[in-house]
Amino acid sequence: MAPPGAARREGPLNDADPRARQKDEAARAAAELIEPGMRVGLGTGSTVAHLLPAIAERRLAGLRCVATSPATARAAVELGLEVGELDEIGELDIAIDGADQIDPAGWLVKGGGGAHTREKIVAAHAQRFVVIASADKAVAELAAPVPLEILAFAAQSTLRTLAPARLRDAPPSPDGGLIADYLGELGDLEELAERLARTPGVVEHGLFEPALVSLVLIGSGDGVERRVLEASG
Ligand code: 5RP
Repeated sequence: MAPPGAARREGPLNDADPRARQKDEAARAAAELIEPGMRVGLGTGSTVAHLLPAIAERRLAGLRCVATSPATARAAVELGLEVGELDEIGELDIAIDGADQIDPAGWLVKGGGGAHTREKIVAAHAQRFVVIASADKAVAELAAPVPLEILAFAAQSTLRTLAPARLRDAPPSPDGGLIADYLGELGDLEELAERLARTPGVVEHGLFEPALVSLVLIGSGDGVERRVLEASG
C-alpha cells in the first residue's frame, strides 16, 4: 500500500477504473495553465501523480516548483522539474492539487493523504489555486471524515474535545504531526472550520474554504468541467 502522502501512482489509462482517465483529463487541463518561468505549487495524491508528467512533458523553461510532500518532491525531481522551498521561492503564481470532496460552493475536504497542512500553506501563498479531480469528488454536500493534523502532545485530549474523532493508522506527517479524522456532523462549514482551527492541539484541518480556490477542474472522461470561483482568476 502506498504510504499516506505519497504521490500515488495508478495503472494505465485503459484501466477498468474510469477515474484514472478523469484525473488525467483534469490534470492535463491544469498543466496547460502553466507558463514558462512560473513558480508552481504541487499538491499530493493520485491526481497529482497525473499532473507531474503532464507538466514535465511541456518542457517549460524556468519553472520553479514547491512540493507539498516528500513523495511529490521525489516524483517531480525524477521527471526533471526543479523543486525548491517555499521560503526561498516566495509567492507562487499557481498551485495545483487534488481534493477528497468538492461541494457546489467550492468548499473542499482535503487531507486524505495526510498532507493538508502543507497543502493549505502552499495554496494560501499562490495567486491561483486550481483543484483537479475525478467526477466522484464532486458532491452535493461535504461529509465526514474531515482530516486533521494534531500535535502528539495530549493527542487523546484533543480528540476528546472534538469527539467523535479518532487517530488514523498512519505515520506522522513530515512535520511530526499526527493524522486524525473528525467524524461528526459538519453542519455550518464556516462554523466548523472556525471551531477546528481554534481547538488547542489542532495544527490544521482539511476544510478549505472557497475563498482559497480559484478554479476547479473536474474530469468526466469526455471533457473537463470548469468551475470558476470568485477567489481569483
Ligand atoms: C492529500 C490530499 C489529496 O489531494 C486528496 O486526498 C486527493 O487525493 P487523490 O488525488 O489521490 O484522490 O488532500 O493530503
